[in-house]
Amino acid sequence: MGSKKVSKIGVLTSGGDAPGMNAAIRAVVRTGIYNGLEVFGIMRGYSGMIDDDIHPMNSRSVANIIQRGGTILKTARSMVFMEAEGRKLAYENLRKRGIDGLVIIGGDGSFKGAQKFSNEFDIPCIGLPGTIDKDIAGSDFTIGFDTAVNTAVEAIDKIRDTADAHDRLFIVEVMGRDAGYIALHSGIATGAENILIPETETDIEELIQSLSEQEKRKKLVNIIVVAEGDKYGANEISSIVKKRLPSADTRVCILGHIQRGGSPTCLDRLIASRMGFAAVECLLNGTNNVMVGILNNQLHYTPLDHAIKAKQKISEDWLRIVKILAS
Ligand code: F6P
Repeated sequence: MGSKKVSKIGVLTSGGDAPGMNAAIRAVVRTGIYNGLEVFGIMRGYSGMIDDDIHPMNSRSVANIIQRGGTILKTARSMVFMEAEGRKLAYENLRKRGIDGLVIIGGDGSFKGAQKFSNEFDIPCIGLPGTIDKDIAGSDFTIGFDTAVNTAVEAIDKIRDTADAHDRLFIVEVMGRDAGYIALHSGIATGAENILIPETETDIEELIQSLSEQEKRKKLVNIIVVAEGDKYGANEISSIVKKRLPSADTRVCILGHIQRGGSPTCLDRLIASRMGFAAVECLLNGTNNVMVGILNNQLHYTPLDHAIKAKQKISEDWLRIVKILAS
């Protein structure tokens, strides 16, 4: 907690886009204006701060966006902001407009930037977890995760139809650079026979054994969901399986960026709205350097460095559920 109150705030989206970011922007703008603040939209994340691409916003600027994927403020991963010189330029652009508080909607890379910036300059920063990966501690959900999982579920259900028709083994790769949450949730929800995630060591022998046992039991349809960040990607798993189990009719499907787009689910719109509202309240009451999250359906505030470092732990229960239900 600090003591500095704000009168003009900036909002930006940074890193990979996530469905629900627009709902969060809308909440920040409207809560800010309700409280008598001036609100500025910063384009393309930290790049817009450096390039002075900063624009006043009003309630109408955020009309009709709550249901839209992507981000009206656009997004980027700025390398220049990682340099002290870039951050200084960004600070000067904020100061000349009198912007004295920031809301950063993004993932761990964006929070690292925010932390450096608020330590160097007298501008409080509040983070909102906007990432489909859910690789941040201090919140049960991150903005975009629920939509991405539902997109993956819809796709895997469709894959199962064709897998079933041909008695095929499908290896489906879902997003998640360092985290297996999309794989875990979508895999359980679609009844995947195997789920491979970076948080646990993937044991190829165990996988081959489970596939051969299923083959013996005449279980010919098989879905393996693999997280992008797993030690083995879908293509590598496929070539191993083809070598070791040549009788399996194996196909690969990499879902890719389809998981980042689309209209946000109700859950993503709700958490984004609550978090955006809470971010402005934080700035109004002098809080600095925290991420707003939701834990057990309550707003929760985590220091930015903890949110980045701690990540979320996948509990043993989840992993046991996968094994038992896929049998
Ligand atoms: O962080 C979100 C994410 O979608 C990851 O799951 C993925 O690894 C990465 O972004 C892809 O980034 P880009 O769109 O820059 O290729």
